[in-house]
Amino acid sequence: MHDPQPQPQRSSSSPQPLDLSMKVMDVDGSVSLFPSPRLRRLRRSNAIRHMLKESRIDLESLVYPVFVQDGIRGKEPIQSMPGLSRLPLSMLVDEVRDLIDLGIRAILLFGIPSRKDEYASSAYDDSGIVQRAVSALRKEFNSDDLTIVTDVCTCQYTSHGHCGMLKGNRIDNDSTLDILAKIAVSHANAGADIVAPSAMMDGQVKAIRDALDDHGFKDTLIMSYSAKYSSSLYTPFRSAADSAPRFGDRMSYQLYYANAREAMREIEQDILEGADIVMVKPAIAYLDIIRLARDRFKHPLAAYSVSGEYALVKAASLQGLIDEDAVIMELLTCIRRAGADIIITYFAKQVAEITNK
Ligand code: PBG
Ligand code: ZN
Repeated sequence: MHDPQPQPQRSSSSPQPLDLSMKVMDVDGSVSLFPSPRLRRLRRSNAIRHMLKESRIDLESLVYPVFVQDGIRGKEPIQSMPGLSRLPLSMLVDEVRDLIDLGIRAILLFGIPSRKDEYASSAYDDSGIVQRAVSALRKEFNSDDLTIVTDVCTCQYTSHGHCGMLKGNRIDNDSTLDILAKIAVSHANAGADIVAPSAMMDGQVKAIRDALDDHGFKDTLIMSYSAKYSSSLYTPFRSAADSAPRFGDRMSYQLYYANAREAMREIEQDILEGADIVMVKPAIAYLDIIRLARDRFKHPLAAYSVSGEYALVKAASLQGLIDEDAVIMELLTCIRRAGADIIITYFAKQVAEITNK
């Protein structure tokens, strides 16, 4: 039996597997050499260059992360990520309406709760910050106009700041699965289109898929942070979301940056567990991982250009060292060229402003 699950549309400019094995041959089979082929012909005018562009950024494939914080009155600028703010729930709908007007159709919601405990109970509370935020947005915007993606993890909600439950000083895999499943179900129940587990626990996709199906959320997609590396580029995010681990680090669950084959195993497992979309994170220093995943798997592929990537560009730009708009477009286009269908980026709003100019 064929169960038609809704799949996200692949855009027409969706990156295809690369085949660099072809030889430069003339029709008679001889190898073609200068002066007959002049590759500069392909770059001779602006119009030709644009016509022959292989990778493009379309706004529909961008996802903009949004931070919503419980218990604040106004916007709070994020020091570690210049230009971005944490929002109170009361300002969220207007902010998202502005995004939609600019052409951004998808957000990734992060919640900052007012209460943390050892078990992340505020993460699956039906009146938690993300649940209320999703309901408020869903009242205003339907799924055709706005795709709501929610981050499913515990680190903003646990007193210890880890992405799972503690057993002694270790992060316990299996007891975390239930919690992640509860969080995902509560997000789906509030109206999320896509839940995005980022805890890097083994079996999290299966646990979430089973729980969603059991609760009647068969059409809720899972975008798994499949190949999520333990990266020093997350530091600005952790101060923005107050989610830094209070002891130790995340090396026992997130991938080691030296490894590529292991990332393919992570993605493969998530696909077998039922992920609809898989993700590589970070993006810019991990373009090889994106390319490997694109060539190996048919699933839609997301790349998350993380807070540290954003901060590096902003810092250089604030010092007047680079042309910010040009650098943003180059970096994001290169992530597409590497093979990402979807890009999660803090620059999404700026890209819309640049391309709408
Ligand atoms: C939480 C989470 C993190 C990010 C997304 N979800 C931080 C972490 O794993 O410590 C990083 C996002 C960024 O740096 O932009 N699991
Ligand atoms: Zn986490």
